Amino acid sequence: MGKIRVGVIGVGNCFAGLAQGIEVYKRNNIKKLGLMHETIGGYGIEDLEFVCAFDVGENKVGRPLNEAIFSDPNYVDWVDSVSNCTSRKVKESPILDGVGIYVASMIKPIDQTKTEEELEKEAIEEIQATGTKVLINYLPVGSQKAVEFWAKIALKTKCAFINCMPVFIASNKEWLKKFEDAKLPIVGDDVKGVIGATITHRTLAKLCVDRGATIDRTYQINVGGNTDFANMLERERLESKKISKTESVQSQIPLKQRLNDKDIYIGPSDFIPFLGNTKLAFIRIEGRMFANIPYNMEIRLDVDDKANSGGVAIDAIRCAQLALDNGVSGNLKYVSAYLMKHPMEQMGDEDAREKLDEWIAKLTK
Ligand SMILES: NC(=O)c1ccc[n+]([C@@H]2O[C@H](COP(=O)([O-])OP(=O)(O)OC[C@H]3O[C@@H](n4cnc5c(N)ncnc54)[C@H](O)[C@@H]3O)[C@@H](O)[C@H]2O)c1
Repeated sequence: MGKIRVGVIGVGNCFAGLAQGIEVYKRNNIKKLGLMHETIGGYGIEDLEFVCAFDVGENKVGRPLNEAIFSDPNYVDWVDSVSNCTSRKVKESPILDGVGIYVASMIKPIDQTKTEEELEKEAIEEIQATGTKVLINYLPVGSQKAVEFWAKIALKTKCAFINCMPVFIASNKEWLKKFEDAKLPIVGDDVKGVIGATITHRTLAKLCVDRGATIDRTYQINVGGNTDFANMLERERLESKKISKTESVQSQIPLKQRLNDKDIYIGPSDFIPFLGNTKLAFIRIEGRMFANIPYNMEIRLDVDDKANSGGVAIDAIRCAQLALDNGVSGNLKYVSAYLMKHPMEQMGDEDAREKLDEWIAKLTK
């Protein structure tokens, strides 16, 4: 097997978790622990190489990637060096709508003097010079224009595209068609964490429905202390995140029983700086069961948000490369359904996992 040459858009906490997490596996003999798949299509997790990267942070652009991932405000500190990141310098990305008002004090953007066209040309040259085959997008919530810029670059450079955040590209018909026409695989949108609030909430909602109970009301409140949560204080940037999270839970409830908007609240709700990458989720479900008798449940989830995202990205990247190896293109529907909150086609998680494993087995030589 060859190596998987990955380009990174947004050298933030999620990427730091992915790269450092892989390093943890390399240094310790814990191969299976915490992985959904030890290998995919013959690719182990040590086969990922991060060969180029793009950001707008003044302290990241122009620094070697293997140093930039440790720069503020990245809080992941599981190891003190990584061998899977290039020493090539992080290149400049157009800011467009990238940095929100609540994050501006934490991420100081570069003083941008180059035009979008100049940056596009440089990005294409960098991706081609490094032989990048898979582009992974970790831009902040609300970066519609910046994400579209990078989706276009993926099309122009013939890269597979993985969209880890909630600007809808893989689940948008027009964008999906562009990837189908270009015969390129796409996975998205918005990572569904390994043991995240979404998968927990979906699973509990499905449990209630499968046991014949009704769900009358439910909420999911999330708080955290990293830039992602600070950014989501800006309500206008948050809209697609709320849609992505809410639809993900609603999709597990049969159509006729879906909740009215007033009976379901799902959203990040606050930024608590000292939490860092710890995310707390508070989930409540209220309903009625046998003989119309009420029940309710409350869950408090306490989890590292970046371990949550890294454990999913590691599979998304290997699946994208497997698709490239086999000439499979367009929406990787089982990959997106199992790993993402807002795929083009929602499925039950058990079903998606089974179909995904069949898909992997079929393409693995
Ligand atoms: N469990 C999870 O952490 C999880 C789950 C689902 C989705 N996500 C999404 O993944 C994304 C990344 O999360 P994160 O915690 O790494 O965020 P982060 O704030 O730590 O990192 C974002 C990075 O993007 C850079 N950036 C900002 N504007 C840019 C631009 N125009 N071009 C290039 N780079 C730019 C920032 O400088 C920063 O380095 C967020 O949208 C988040 O909502 C995360």
